[in-house]
Amino acid sequence: MLEVTGLELALPDLSAKRGFARAPLVSILRNLSFCVNQGESVGVVGQSGSGKTSLGRTLMRLNEPTSGRIVFDGVDISHLQEAELRPLRRRFQMIFQDPQSSLNPRRRIGQSIIQPLMAYGMLTNPQQGWQRSEELLERVGLEPMLSRRYPHELSGGQRQRVGIARAISLEPEFVVADEIVSGLDVSSQAQILRLLRRLQSELGLTLVFISHDLSVVRAVCDRVIVMSHGEIVESGSCAEVFSHANHWYTRELISAIPLPDVDEKWLNDIDAQDNKVG
Ligand SMILES: Nc1ncnc2c1ncn2[C@@H]1O[C@H](COP(=O)(O)OP(=O)(O)O)[C@@H](O)[C@H]1O
Ligand SMILES: [Mg+2]
Repeated sequence: MLEVTGLELALPDLSAKRGFARAPLVSILRNLSFCVNQGESVGVVGQSGSGKTSLGRTLMRLNEPTSGRIVFDGVDISHLQEAELRPLRRRFQMIFQDPQSSLNPRRRIGQSIIQPLMAYGMLTNPQQGWQRSEELLERVGLEPMLSRRYPHELSGGQRQRVGIARAISLEPEFVVADEIVSGLDVSSQAQILRLLRRLQSELGLTLVFISHDLSVVRAVCDRVIVMSHGEIVESGSCAEVFSHANHWYTRELISAIPLPDVDEKWLNDIDAQDNKVG
């Protein structure tokens, strides 16, 4: 589904003093190569500043790679212009860390949910819009009547579900989720992860799941890519990487998981719930 080869990204260094000169470029992603197979879920982990969000944005072509290739379902999207990308954009979607910032505070939830559908001309009459947004809210486990509410009336977990509803409204095949449970309490985290796993299997989604938290990645992903300073330092199946990490950096991330015994129980709870629901 996705094939990344020798991906590099350099951006202007906004922190550099530059007077009238152009800002110097700073290297953000270096020589990244990996594949994501259809229906698979691949985790991207690494400390803050390791380049995870930049990678997600580049895969979505919100950034243009400086060199290397990104092939999405057989199409090289590395340097496509916006007009050429447009028909593809419906097929890949990103869910951001902070849905608060992507939801317009002055719009009702339902209006925000159907905004992508309107933009793609997939909805024409507004009455149909309310109905569609209510269906999508139900799909992500929320009360349909929330479609008439405003973002500030929802909890963080509810807003994150709205972000997910918006992302799946266009029926994408490929989704990048960037730190979508950071900042939520543990039980909301578990609920969102459970929802994501359910949607992934129901919709056959291919998922890149970004998190600084290895325990979260482990709950959702088949494979994991470990990033440090813009490079991939390790990758493999979750089972492999968690049982014998090769790189000291990965071992350090693993040892930073708080209270591993509690985490184990938490994961089992998620599994138990999945079995009940599924
Ligand atoms: N638009 C930008 N311009 C310049 N540097 C950036 C830009 N965005 C991110 N960076 C830098 O790139 C590095 C990686 O950032 P980011 O991708 O946000 O990492 P992560 O998501 O892993 O925390 C950081 O050092 C950050 O300061
Ligand atoms: Mg980030």
